[in-house]
Amino acid sequence: MLVTGAGGMVGSYLPEVFSDMELTLTDIVGGFTPLDLRDPRAVMEIIRSVDPEAVLHLGAATDVDRCQQEPEWAYQTNAVGTQNVALACLAQGAALVYVSTAAVFPGDKPEPYIEFDDPRPANLYGRSKWIGEQIVTSLLPRSYIVRAGWMIGGGSKDKKFVGKITRLILDGKNPIQAVNDKWGSPTYAKDLLKGIRALLGTGYYGLYHMANQGSCTRYDIACAIREILGRKEISVAPVSSDCFPLPAPRGRSEAIRNLKAELLGLEPMRPWREALREYVQAELVPILAGR
Ligand SMILES: NC(=O)c1ccc[n+]([C@@H]2O[C@H](COP(=O)([O-])OP(=O)(O)OC[C@H]3O[C@@H](n4cnc5c(N)ncnc54)[C@H](OP(=O)(O)O)[C@@H]3O)[C@@H](O)[C@H]2O)c1
Repeated sequence: MLVTGAGGMVGSYLPEVFSDMELTLTDIVGGFTPLDLRDPRAVMEIIRSVDPEAVLHLGAATDVDRCQQEPEWAYQTNAVGTQNVALACLAQGAALVYVSTAAVFPGDKPEPYIEFDDPRPANLYGRSKWIGEQIVTSLLPRSYIVRAGWMIGGGSKDKKFVGKITRLILDGKNPIQAVNDKWGSPTYAKDLLKGIRALLGTGYYGLYHMANQGSCTRYDIACAIREILGRKEISVAPVSSDCFPLPAPRGRSEAIRNLKAELLGLEPMRPWREALREYVQAELVPILAGR
């Protein structure tokens, strides 16, 4: 399997989850086989020379606020880059797994979004990823599109919410503020890769939601981390997202439900609290203890 964007958060679990598979790990960042998705010739050439059975396409412009401010960067990476990968897979007869996002939805639905809901992205990042989805669907019948929720993971590379809050709590910051008016479905990157691995074996090509079970706010996640760390004395204050103004608009809800997997009888993903506990206890705390 050839992987794009292997140097990112999700990519950090590839060696563990696909330990028995021959992998070609590519990225624009150092330490990997160099590949810039925006270069159609380079993408075609590497997929031709490696001749993989499948391509796992993780590479993306994931900075939501930068995407909003630099739409051409977002479209070139997430839409044109995905077209480059899809065309190379078509030419080489490789299956493609494209990892997309719950940010394709507008965020106004009270219940979690399912695969049968219509996308209508609230921001440029979501729009560029959704266009990537449409390109994959129109070019490649042997493709899987997998939409993830709020990604958790990365260990030492974790600069996202869970990493930040865990650091603050371990450092004794009190009180901590966390937004309580936006909803999402946490997705442990390791569980996502395990789910993708299982899906690859089915041949059930198509569109899937793949998040840990349940939905919550960042406030709920912060409270759960406090409980996992056994730091009852720290108070977590629920605040409005207006307290943290950001360039890109976000919908009220990016919560998703893995309905297609349920209907097909595929193994369900574990609840988000269980996944969070494993991540914080087994990965983050040992790393942060050694700071
Ligand atoms: N993170 C989330 O919350 C989240 C949620 C749902 C879905 N997803 C999707 O899941 C996938 C993996 O996300 P992730 O969290 O692992 O993201 P990530 O940590 O940002 O990793 C993406 C990797 O792609 C690289 N990349 C950027 N531009 C590239 C280019 N032109 N050519 C080749 N590589 C390039 C990035 O390099 P740089 O670091 O140098 O940019 C980075 O190493 C993405 O498709 C993303 O859209 C992410």
